[in-house]
Amino acid sequence: DKGNHRHFMAKEIHEQPEVVGRTLAHYVDLAAGRVVLPEPLPFDFARLSRLSITACGTAYYAGLVARYWFEQIARLPVEIDVASEARYREAPLERDGLTLVISQSGETADTLASMRYAKSQGQHTLSVVNVPTSTIARESSVVMPTLAGPEIGVASTKAFSCQLTVLLCLAIAAGRARGTIDAAEERRLVDALITVPGLMAEALTREGEIEILAREVSKARDVLYLGRGTSYPMALEGALKLKEISYIHAEGYAAGELKHGPIALIDESVPVIVIAPHDAVFEKTVSNMQEVAARGGRIVLIGDSKGAAEHGLDTLATVTMPDLDATVAPIVYAVPIQLVAYHTAVFMGKDVDQPRNLAKSVTVE
Ligand code: F6R
Repeated sequence: DKGNHRHFMAKEIHEQPEVVGRTLAHYVDLAAGRVVLPEPLPFDFARLSRLSITACGTAYYAGLVARYWFEQIARLPVEIDVASEARYREAPLERDGLTLVISQSGETADTLASMRYAKSQGQHTLSVVNVPTSTIARESSVVMPTLAGPEIGVASTKAFSCQLTVLLCLAIAAGRARGTIDAAEERRLVDALITVPGLMAEALTREGEIEILAREVSKARDVLYLGRGTSYPMALEGALKLKEISYIHAEGYAAGELKHGPIALIDESVPVIVIAPHDAVFEKTVSNMQEVAARGGRIVLIGDSKGAAEHGLDTLATVTMPDLDATVAPIVYAVPIQLVAYHTAVFMGKDVDQPRNLAKSVTVE
Protein backbone atom coordinates (compact mmCIF):
# COMPACT_ATOMS: atom_id res chain seq x y z
CA ASP A 1 0.00 0.00 0.00
CA LYS A 2 1.52 3.30 -1.11
CA GLY A 3 -0.74 5.39 1.11
CA ASN A 4 -0.98 8.89 -0.33
CA HIS A 5 2.22 8.50 -2.30
CA ARG A 6 2.77 7.96 -6.01
CA HIS A 7 5.48 5.40 -5.48
CA PHE A 8 6.75 3.08 -2.77
CA MET A 9 10.04 4.93 -2.93
CA ALA A 10 8.32 8.21 -1.99
CA LYS A 11 6.44 6.53 0.81
CA GLU A 12 9.62 4.96 2.14
CA ILE A 13 11.56 8.24 1.98
CA HIS A 14 8.78 9.93 3.95
CA GLU A 15 8.60 7.13 6.52
CA GLN A 16 12.15 7.75 7.64
CA PRO A 17 11.53 10.01 10.65
CA GLU A 18 9.22 7.34 12.01
CA VAL A 19 11.32 4.24 11.30
CA VAL A 20 14.59 5.84 12.36
CA GLY A 21 12.81 6.89 15.57
CA ARG A 22 11.58 3.35 16.09
CA THR A 23 15.05 1.93 15.46
CA LEU A 24 16.59 4.43 17.86
CA ALA A 25 14.10 3.54 20.58
CA HIS A 26 15.32 -0.05 20.25
CA TYR A 27 18.98 0.89 20.84
CA VAL A 28 18.91 3.88 23.15
CA ASP A 29 17.85 4.40 26.74
CA LEU A 30 16.58 7.95 26.41
CA ALA A 31 16.36 8.73 30.11
CA ALA A 32 19.83 7.43 30.87
CA GLY A 33 21.34 8.98 27.72
CA ARG A 34 23.03 5.68 26.87
CA VAL A 35 23.10 3.13 24.11
CA VAL A 36 21.65 -0.20 25.24
CA LEU A 37 22.09 -2.94 22.66
CA PRO A 38 19.08 -5.24 22.25
CA GLU A 39 21.28 -8.37 22.28
CA PRO A 40 24.25 -9.32 24.45
CA LEU A 41 27.47 -9.45 22.44
CA PRO A 42 29.33 -12.77 22.21
CA PHE A 43 32.63 -10.83 21.95
CA ASP A 44 34.22 -7.86 23.68
CA PHE A 45 34.81 -4.70 21.62
CA ALA A 46 37.69 -3.86 23.99
CA ARG A 47 39.62 -6.95 22.87
CA LEU A 48 39.34 -6.40 19.13
CA SER A 49 42.37 -5.21 17.22
CA ARG A 50 40.27 -4.39 14.18
CA LEU A 51 36.84 -4.66 12.64
CA SER A 52 36.13 -6.01 9.15
CA ILE A 53 32.99 -4.77 7.41
CA THR A 54 31.49 -6.19 4.25
CA ALA A 55 28.29 -5.51 2.28
CA CYS A 56 27.05 -4.62 -1.22
CA GLY A 57 25.70 -1.45 -2.82
CA THR A 58 23.94 0.98 -0.54
CA ALA A 59 24.58 -1.24 2.50
CA TYR A 60 28.30 -1.04 1.67
CA TYR A 61 28.08 2.76 1.67
CA ALA A 62 26.47 2.59 5.12
CA GLY A 63 29.53 0.57 6.12
CA LEU A 64 31.86 3.21 4.66
CA VAL A 65 30.16 5.87 6.82
CA ALA A 66 30.45 3.58 9.83
CA ARG A 67 34.20 3.27 9.28
CA TYR A 68 34.58 6.94 10.23
CA TRP A 69 32.40 6.45 13.32
CA PHE A 70 34.18 3.30 14.58
CA GLU A 71 37.59 4.84 14.01
CA GLN A 72 36.79 8.24 15.53
CA ILE A 73 34.49 7.26 18.39
CA ALA A 74 35.93 3.85 19.33
CA ARG A 75 39.49 4.18 17.93
CA LEU A 76 38.87 0.78 16.33
CA PRO A 77 40.70 0.25 13.02
CA VAL A 78 38.29 -0.76 10.26
CA GLU A 79 38.89 -2.58 7.02
CA ILE A 80 35.98 -2.64 4.62
CA ASP A 81 35.39 -4.16 1.22
CA VAL A 82 32.49 -4.93 -1.08
CA ALA A 83 31.34 -8.47 -0.41
CA SER A 84 31.96 -9.67 -3.99
CA GLU A 85 35.67 -8.94 -3.43
CA ALA A 86 35.85 -9.83 0.25
CA ARG A 87 34.58 -13.35 -0.42
CA TYR A 88 37.40 -14.20 -2.83
CA ARG A 89 40.30 -12.14 -1.49
CA GLU A 90 41.22 -14.78 1.06
CA ALA A 91 42.17 -11.98 3.39
CA PRO A 92 43.77 -13.18 6.61
CA LEU A 93 41.20 -12.66 9.36
CA GLU A 94 42.18 -12.97 12.99
CA ARG A 95 40.60 -15.82 14.94
CA ASP A 96 38.06 -14.39 17.44
CA GLY A 97 38.02 -11.13 15.50
CA LEU A 98 34.81 -9.55 14.26
CA THR A 99 33.23 -9.29 10.84
CA LEU A 100 30.22 -6.99 10.54
CA VAL A 101 27.89 -7.54 7.60
CA ILE A 102 25.16 -5.15 6.55
CA SER A 103 22.18 -6.19 4.42
CA GLN A 104 18.61 -5.03 4.03
CA SER A 105 17.32 -8.33 2.64
CA GLY A 106 19.69 -10.58 4.55
CA GLU A 107 19.83 -12.74 1.40
CA THR A 108 22.49 -11.09 -0.77
CA ALA A 109 24.63 -13.96 -2.08
CA ASP A 110 28.01 -12.22 -1.91
CA THR A 111 27.39 -10.80 1.55
CA LEU A 112 26.33 -14.20 2.83
CA ALA A 113 29.39 -15.86 1.27
CA SER A 114 31.79 -13.32 2.78
CA MET A 115 30.15 -13.83 6.17
CA ARG A 116 30.57 -17.59 5.82
CA TYR A 117 34.23 -17.06 4.90
CA ALA A 118 34.75 -14.96 8.06
CA LYS A 119 33.10 -17.70 10.10
CA SER A 120 35.38 -20.31 8.56
CA GLN A 121 38.32 -18.22 9.79
CA GLY A 122 37.01 -18.41 13.36
CA GLN A 123 35.56 -14.92 13.43
CA HIS A 124 32.48 -13.70 15.23
CA THR A 125 29.89 -12.35 12.84
CA LEU A 126 27.55 -9.48 13.60
CA SER A 127 24.80 -8.75 11.10
CA VAL A 128 22.82 -5.54 10.67
CA VAL A 129 19.76 -6.76 8.74
CA ASN A 130 16.24 -5.59 8.04
CA VAL A 131 14.67 -9.04 7.58
CA PRO A 132 15.03 -10.90 10.87
CA THR A 133 14.11 -14.29 9.37
CA SER A 134 16.74 -14.03 6.61
CA THR A 135 19.64 -16.40 6.02
CA ILE A 136 22.24 -13.83 7.08
CA ALA A 137 20.32 -13.15 10.31
CA ARG A 138 20.05 -16.86 11.04
CA GLU A 139 23.69 -17.66 10.34
CA SER A 140 25.38 -14.74 12.10
CA SER A 141 26.55 -14.98 15.71
CA VAL A 142 24.52 -11.93 16.67
CA VAL A 143 21.87 -9.86 14.87
CA MET A 144 21.29 -6.15 15.28
CA PRO A 145 18.01 -5.46 13.47
CA THR A 146 17.06 -2.34 11.56
CA LEU A 147 13.39 -1.67 12.19
CA ALA A 148 12.67 -0.05 8.83
CA GLY A 149 9.75 -2.36 8.05
CA PRO A 150 9.35 -3.95 4.59
CA GLU A 151 11.17 -2.00 1.88
CA ILE A 152 9.39 -2.45 -1.47
CA GLY A 153 11.08 0.14 -3.70
CA VAL A 154 14.10 -1.40 -5.39
CA ALA A 155 16.27 1.59 -4.47
CA SER A 156 17.13 1.33 -0.80
CA THR A 157 16.15 4.40 1.24
CA LYS A 158 14.72 3.85 4.70
CA ALA A 159 16.78 0.69 5.20
CA PHE A 160 19.92 2.79 4.60
CA SER A 161 19.08 5.47 7.19
CA CYS A 162 18.15 2.77 9.70
CA GLN A 163 21.44 0.97 8.99
CA LEU A 164 23.31 4.20 9.71
CA THR A 165 21.35 4.62 12.94
CA VAL A 166 22.21 1.11 14.18
CA LEU A 167 25.84 1.47 13.11
CA LEU A 168 26.28 4.73 15.02
CA CYS A 169 24.77 3.09 18.12
CA LEU A 170 27.23 0.20 17.71
CA ALA A 171 30.15 2.61 17.36
CA ILE A 172 29.06 4.34 20.58
CA ALA A 173 28.76 0.98 22.36
CA ALA A 174 32.24 0.09 21.09
CA GLY A 175 33.59 3.44 22.29
CA ARG A 176 32.22 2.85 25.76
CA ALA A 177 33.64 -0.70 25.90
CA ARG A 178 37.04 0.52 24.70
CA GLY A 179 37.09 3.49 27.06
CA THR A 180 37.52 5.98 24.23
CA ILE A 181 34.42 7.97 25.20
CA ASP A 182 33.23 8.84 28.69
CA ALA A 183 29.63 9.00 29.94
CA ALA A 184 29.36 12.71 29.11
CA GLU A 185 30.49 12.16 25.52
CA GLU A 186 28.12 9.21 25.18
CA ARG A 187 25.26 11.38 26.39
CA ARG A 188 26.24 14.10 23.91
CA LEU A 189 26.18 11.58 21.05
CA VAL A 190 22.90 10.05 22.21
CA ASP A 191 21.36 13.52 22.53
CA ALA A 192 22.44 14.22 18.95
CA LEU A 193 20.92 10.92 17.78
CA ILE A 194 17.63 11.72 19.45
CA THR A 195 17.31 14.90 17.37
CA VAL A 196 17.60 12.93 14.11
CA PRO A 197 13.95 12.00 13.43
CA GLY A 198 12.90 15.64 13.87
CA LEU A 199 15.76 16.83 11.66
CA MET A 200 14.78 14.32 8.97
CA ALA A 201 11.22 15.65 9.10
CA GLU A 202 12.63 19.13 8.61
CA ALA A 203 14.78 17.92 5.71
CA LEU A 204 11.63 16.54 4.06
CA THR A 205 10.16 20.06 3.98
CA ARG A 206 12.79 20.93 1.33
CA GLU A 207 11.07 18.62 -1.13
CA GLY A 208 9.46 21.43 -3.16
CA GLU A 209 12.78 23.12 -3.93
CA ILE A 210 14.42 19.78 -4.66
CA GLU A 211 11.66 19.02 -7.16
CA ILE A 212 12.49 22.24 -9.03
CA LEU A 213 16.22 21.50 -8.89
CA ALA A 214 15.54 18.00 -10.25
CA ARG A 215 14.40 19.53 -13.57
CA GLU A 216 17.91 20.93 -14.03
CA VAL A 217 19.53 17.66 -13.01
CA SER A 218 17.34 15.75 -15.48
CA LYS A 219 18.96 17.64 -18.41
CA ALA A 220 22.43 16.44 -17.54
CA ARG A 221 24.23 13.54 -19.16
CA ASP A 222 26.69 13.27 -16.29
CA VAL A 223 26.51 14.36 -12.66
CA LEU A 224 29.38 14.49 -10.20
CA TYR A 225 28.86 14.12 -6.45
CA LEU A 226 31.57 15.32 -4.06
CA GLY A 227 32.04 15.04 -0.31
CA ARG A 228 34.70 14.71 2.39
CA GLY A 229 34.71 12.68 5.58
CA THR A 230 31.39 10.93 6.12
CA SER A 231 30.01 13.01 3.25
CA TYR A 232 32.32 11.10 0.88
CA PRO A 233 30.35 7.83 1.15
CA MET A 234 27.21 9.95 0.98
CA ALA A 235 28.45 11.24 -2.38
CA LEU A 236 28.87 7.64 -3.52
CA GLU A 237 25.35 6.86 -2.33
CA GLY A 238 23.92 9.93 -4.06
CA ALA A 239 25.52 8.91 -7.35
CA LEU A 240 24.31 5.32 -7.03
CA LYS A 241 20.76 6.40 -6.27
CA LEU A 242 20.67 8.79 -9.23
CA LYS A 243 22.10 6.32 -11.74
CA GLU A 244 19.95 3.40 -10.70
CA ILE A 245 16.59 5.12 -11.04
CA SER A 246 17.15 7.98 -13.56
CA TYR A 247 19.85 6.21 -15.70
CA ILE A 248 21.87 9.43 -15.72
CA HIS A 249 25.55 8.69 -15.44
CA ALA A 250 26.75 9.82 -12.02
CA GLU A 251 30.00 9.45 -10.11
CA GLY A 252 30.77 10.04 -6.47
CA TYR A 253 34.24 11.23 -5.52
CA ALA A 254 36.12 12.22 -2.40
CA ALA A 255 36.28 16.00 -2.87
CA GLY A 256 40.06 15.95 -2.45
CA GLU A 257 40.38 13.55 -5.38
CA LEU A 258 38.90 16.09 -7.78
CA LYS A 259 42.24 17.38 -9.00
CA HIS A 260 43.56 13.84 -9.46
CA GLY A 261 41.38 13.26 -12.49
CA PRO A 262 37.66 14.03 -12.46
CA ILE A 263 38.26 17.78 -12.71
CA ALA A 264 38.90 17.10 -16.41
CA LEU A 265 35.16 16.46 -16.79
CA ILE A 266 34.02 19.77 -15.36
CA ASP A 267 32.23 22.21 -17.62
CA GLU A 268 28.89 24.02 -17.57
CA SER A 269 27.03 20.89 -18.65
CA VAL A 270 27.99 18.83 -15.59
CA PRO A 271 26.12 19.60 -12.36
CA VAL A 272 28.37 19.05 -9.35
CA ILE A 273 26.42 18.11 -6.25
CA VAL A 274 28.49 18.93 -3.18
CA ILE A 275 27.47 17.37 0.11
CA ALA A 276 28.95 19.55 2.82
CA PRO A 277 27.54 20.19 6.27
CA HIS A 278 29.49 22.85 8.19
CA ASP A 279 31.83 20.32 9.83
CA ALA A 280 35.57 20.06 10.53
CA VAL A 281 36.42 19.57 6.83
CA PHE A 282 33.97 22.13 5.39
CA GLU A 283 36.65 24.67 4.48
CA LYS A 284 38.60 22.03 2.60
CA THR A 285 35.50 21.21 0.58
CA VAL A 286 35.00 24.91 -0.20
CA SER A 287 38.43 24.98 -1.84
CA ASN A 288 37.26 22.13 -4.10
CA MET A 289 34.06 24.05 -4.86
CA GLN A 290 36.24 26.99 -5.92
CA GLU A 291 38.09 24.71 -8.34
CA VAL A 292 34.74 23.64 -9.81
CA ALA A 293 33.45 27.23 -10.03
CA ALA A 294 36.66 28.40 -11.73
CA ARG A 295 36.00 25.92 -14.55
CA GLY A 296 32.42 26.98 -15.09
CA GLY A 297 30.99 24.00 -13.23
CA ARG A 298 27.49 24.39 -11.81
CA ILE A 299 27.40 23.66 -8.11
CA VAL A 300 24.49 22.32 -6.14
CA LEU A 301 25.30 22.59 -2.45
CA ILE A 302 23.57 20.31 0.01
CA GLY A 303 24.69 22.00 3.18
CA ASP A 304 23.52 24.33 5.92
CA SER A 305 22.95 28.06 6.35
CA LYS A 306 26.31 28.60 8.04
CA GLY A 307 28.19 27.00 5.16
CA ALA A 308 26.06 28.76 2.56
CA ALA A 309 26.88 32.12 4.17
CA GLU A 310 30.60 31.37 4.21
CA HIS A 311 31.52 29.95 0.80
CA GLY A 312 30.75 33.07 -1.27
CA LEU A 313 30.38 31.21 -4.58
CA ASP A 314 27.63 31.26 -7.18
CA THR A 315 25.62 28.08 -7.05
CA LEU A 316 22.96 26.62 -9.28
CA ALA A 317 21.03 25.82 -6.10
CA THR A 318 21.56 25.39 -2.39
CA VAL A 319 19.54 22.87 -0.45
CA THR A 320 19.67 24.07 3.13
CA MET A 321 19.64 21.39 5.78
CA PRO A 322 18.97 22.18 9.44
CA ASP A 323 21.89 22.86 11.81
CA LEU A 324 22.99 19.66 13.47
CA ASP A 325 25.74 17.81 15.24
CA ALA A 326 28.14 16.80 12.45
CA THR A 327 28.34 13.20 13.67
CA VAL A 328 24.70 12.52 12.73
CA ALA A 329 24.79 14.48 9.45
CA PRO A 330 24.85 11.40 7.16
CA ILE A 331 21.53 10.12 8.53
CA VAL A 332 19.78 13.45 7.93
CA TYR A 333 21.51 14.18 4.61
CA ALA A 334 20.29 10.85 3.26
CA VAL A 335 16.91 12.55 2.79
CA PRO A 336 17.84 15.28 0.24
CA ILE A 337 20.15 12.86 -1.57
CA GLN A 338 17.28 10.41 -2.05
CA LEU A 339 14.85 13.18 -3.02
CA VAL A 340 17.17 14.53 -5.74
CA ALA A 341 17.34 11.08 -7.34
CA TYR A 342 13.63 10.41 -6.87
CA HIS A 343 12.39 13.67 -8.37
CA THR A 344 14.87 13.59 -11.24
CA ALA A 345 13.70 10.10 -12.20
CA VAL A 346 10.00 10.93 -11.79
CA PHE A 347 10.40 14.08 -13.88
CA MET A 348 12.02 11.96 -16.59
CA GLY A 349 9.11 9.53 -16.48
CA LYS A 350 11.11 6.56 -15.19
CA ASP A 351 9.67 3.68 -13.19
CA VAL A 352 11.38 4.47 -9.89
CA ASP A 353 10.03 1.48 -7.99
CA GLN A 354 11.09 -1.02 -10.65
CA PRO A 355 14.20 0.32 -12.39
CA ARG A 356 15.34 -1.63 -15.42
CA ASN A 357 17.78 -4.52 -14.95
CA LEU A 358 17.67 -4.34 -11.15
CA ALA A 359 16.33 -6.83 -8.61
CA LYS A 360 15.44 -6.04 -5.02
CA SER A 361 17.31 -9.01 -3.67
CA VAL A 362 20.47 -10.25 -5.38
CA THR A 363 20.55 -13.90 -4.39
CA VAL A 364 22.90 -15.02 -7.16
CA GLU A 365 26.41 -13.64 -7.63
C1 F6R B 1 20.70 0.42 -4.01
C2 F6R B 1 20.36 -0.94 -3.59
C3 F6R B 1 21.38 -2.02 -3.68
C4 F6R B 1 21.42 -2.84 -2.39
C5 F6R B 1 22.37 -4.01 -2.51
C6 F6R B 1 22.48 -4.78 -1.21
O1 F6R B 1 19.65 1.29 -3.84
O2 F6R B 1 19.25 -1.18 -3.15
O3 F6R B 1 22.64 -1.47 -3.96
O4 F6R B 1 21.79 -1.97 -1.35
O5 F6R B 1 21.91 -4.87 -3.52
O6 F6R B 1 21.27 -5.36 -0.83
P1 F6R B 1 21.04 -5.87 0.62
O7 F6R B 1 21.11 -4.71 1.54
O8 F6R B 1 19.68 -6.51 0.60
O9 F6R B 1 22.13 -6.86 0.94
